[in-house]
Amino acid sequence: MKVAVNTGALVESVLAELGAPWPERKLVVKLNTLPQCEGDPALLKQVWVNLLANALKYTRKRDSARIEIGAVVDGGTTVFSVSDDGVGFDMRYAHKLFGVFQRLHRAEDYEGTGVGLAIVQRIIQRHGGRIWVEAALDRGAVFSFTLSPGTRS
Ligand SMILES: Nc1ncnc2c1ncn2[C@@H]1O[C@H](COP(=O)(O)OP(=O)(O)OP(=O)(O)O)[C@@H](O)[C@H]1O
Ligand SMILES: [Mg+2]
Repeated sequence: MKVAVNTGALVESVLAELGAPWPERKLVVKLNTLPQCEGDPALLKQVWVNLLANALKYTRKRDSARIEIGAVVDGGTTVFSVSDDGVGFDMRYAHKLFGVFQRLHRAEDYEGTGVGLAIVQRIIQRHGGRIWVEAALDRGAVFSFTLSPGTRS
């Protein structure tokens, strides 16, 4: 089902569901103005839940952390992003990230089954978009995605 989605309201409700504003943590979450998007609301919610749950999980061991959610319009295509300054990972392993059951961190350190991002990628592809990541070990990660093919390659 493809409808107009109020992305900002969706992200705010997901953050609340995930426990915002996390009084037990020294965490700043900056939610920038997000444009409306088109898509399946239930599937798009899952995208944000999985990306934001990761940002929360992989910053958890920081004394203080910052997560930023934003969007830029690039050649007519909106690029949404979730960035964090958590543990990050070595970009050499970036190609594994979106595979099912692929994890770059040990279950003893961070719980999980390694399916979250695989689901995110499938949902985004189904909407005609793509997702990519930039990260550095110990420096955090930035996940960016579009929901339509866009005008540039
Ligand atoms: N924000 C992030 N910072 C650092 N590493 C990340 C981040 N998001 C994902 N990863 C790495 O990518 C792997 C795959 O992420 P994914 O969300 O698919 O699995 P998970 O979080 O381990 O488990 P699940 O989401 O199924 O509970 C993670 O195990 C982790 O190593
Ligand atoms: Mg996950």
